[in-house]
Amino acid sequence: MEMLLFRVWALLALIPFPGAAEEIFEVSVWPDQALVKLGQSLMVNCSTTCPDPGPSGIETFLKKTQVDKGPQWKEFLLEDVTENSVLQCFFSCAGIQKDTSLGITVYQPPEQVILELQPSWVAMGEALTVKCHVPRVVPLENLSLTLLQGNQELHRKNFMSLAVASQRAEVTIHVKAQREDDRCNFSCHAELDLSSHGGGLFHSSSDIKVLRIFGFPPPILEIEELYPLAGRDINVTCSGHVLTSPSPTLRLKGAPDTPAPGETAWLLLTTREEDNGRNFSCEASLEVQGQRLIKTTAMQLHVLYKPRLEESDCPGNQTWVKGTEQMLTCVPKGNPTPTLVCTWNGVIFNLDVPQKATQNHTGTYCCTATNQLGSVSKDIAVLVQGLDEGISSTIFIIIIVALGVGVVTIALYLNYKPCKIERRKLPYRQKEKNNEEESQFAVQRGEKCNAHNC
Ligand SMILES: *[C@@H]1O[C@H](CO)[C@@H](O)[C@H](O)[C@H]1NC(C)=O
Ligand SMILES: *[C@@H]1O[C@H](CO)[C@@H](O)[C@H](O)[C@H]1NC(C)=O
Ligand SMILES: *[C@@H]1O[C@H](CO)[C@@H](O)[C@H](O)[C@H]1NC(C)=O
Ligand SMILES: *[C@@H]1O[C@H](CO)[C@@H](O)[C@H](O)[C@H]1NC(C)=O
Ligand SMILES: *[C@@H]1O[C@H](CO)[C@@H](O)[C@H](O)[C@H]1NC(C)=O
Ligand SMILES: *[C@@H]1O[C@H](CO)[C@@H](O)[C@H](O)[C@H]1NC(C)=O
Ligand SMILES: *[C@@H]1O[C@H](CO)[C@@H](O)[C@H](O)[C@H]1NC(C)=O
Repeated sequence: MEMLLFRVWALLALIPFPGAAEEIFEVSVWPDQALVKLGQSLMVNCSTTCPDPGPSGIETFLKKTQVDKGPQWKEFLLEDVTENSVLQCFFSCAGIQKDTSLGITVYQPPEQVILELQPSWVAMGEALTVKCHVPRVVPLENLSLTLLQGNQELHRKNFMSLAVASQRAEVTIHVKAQREDDRCNFSCHAELDLSSHGGGLFHSSSDIKVLRIFGFPPPILEIEELYPLAGRDINVTCSGHVLTSPSPTLRLKGAPDTPAPGETAWLLLTTREEDNGRNFSCEASLEVQGQRLIKTTAMQLHVLYKPRLEESDCPGNQTWVKGTEQMLTCVPKGNPTPTLVCTWNGVIFNLDVPQKATQNHTGTYCCTATNQLGSVSKDIAVLVQGLDEGISSTIFIIIIVALGVGVVTIALYLNYKPCKIERRKLPYRQKEKNNEEESQFAVQRGEKCNAHNC
């Protein structure tokens, strides 16, 4: 308001003395480049060479206080500078106003530099995030952040070319945790270079963060004997891998209790035939920085046992319906898988191809299952039932067939009748002539007849 009035006054003053416009004078401001730390104050000296200056002052949105003045200068205090701005310093001289501007750059050196390793304990080969940020720093364009592993530069980022509005003073990289990174010191270094603004170089570093890498391969599951005979006592054990550190807790499925961390879990088992194909699994769990990690190893047990022919899979009495396709039902148990041979009246019976059941198949079959551990035999009584179920349909089929045959026979008889009559007459008529001619003629007529019929 005050300033506007000055300006208006100056414009009015300009009119009565147009000749004074030629007079040469300078307006200057000190400092000529201002770098102010965020929230701090700034002293500005606005001066002129005009010997007898008229109205003067500074134009700024900052809070200003005139602290001193001389005949050709005015000194102001600007407080709480929080933003970049441009200030105008003006003087009028013999009705002419001139001004000069001062750019104010606000800066905030990096103080707190925060480095995060996520996670700080990482499993070998897994990804790790290294993030560094500086909560308060300006101008961002003059900042650079460097991530260091030991003394080695991992990554450097500057913000010069980036759209400032969308930027935060932070840098994030992802690295794969290598075994040799264990216990490595990570740090972040921030540098604010204000040399181009007439300022200095400001540095700050984060605290050192130590990365811990742990190995966590799957646990080792061992079955004392992978192919035991039924009835053997075997020890199934589950232990942590030597590379695993710290020690995981191991849990063996089926084992009565869970041992203390690092101790082997085991289970003593007397193998039964039913255990063949049974799966054992061992689970290792590791709690790292409040996070539970789990790895599992599974293994299948193969119990070897002699062949068995059980009533359920190989019934001793089997009934077949006459005329239907049948096979002997007999599946032996045993490991290794037994081979099966069945004989019937001393002949090997084909077990793979279905047979059309005849009364003949009734009888006792002797089946023998064999594997490397032994063999077992069983008699199977096969009974072929003929007419109980199949009877009505069989009679029906017979009647239909009989009728069909009858119809066809009658039809054929009627069609062949003339031929037969001629054939019968001819031989009698020509009987006196030689036999050769007679038969030839008959054949000819017969052929004619056939041709006519077709
Ligand atoms: C302000 O600047 C003028 C011109 O350079 C100088 O004479 C005067 O002493 C300065 N005032 C202060 C307080 O430094
Ligand atoms: C600081 O940033 C400005 C752009 O805002 C740029 O012109 C200047 O060169 C930068 N100075 C340094 C030392 O990086
Ligand atoms: C990590 O830093 C500590 C303390 O600054 C130092 O004693 C240690 O040797 C460093 N470790 C490595 C691997 O550089
Ligand atoms: C099974 O093996 C574990 C580990 O080797 C052992 O500690 C345990 O005594 C064994 N159990 C038996 C019954 O042999
Ligand atoms: C054991 O595991 C195998 C493969 O993972 C699977 O095929 C089999 O069915 C399992 N056996 C049992 C008894 O669950
Ligand atoms: C088979 O049948 C006969 C007579 O019906 C019976 O005595 C025998 O016990 C049966 N056998 C089996 C294994 O069921
Ligand atoms: C019945 O068996 C005998 C010999 O055992 C055989 O010659 C005959 O062809 C068989 N009949 C049928 C219909 O399979």
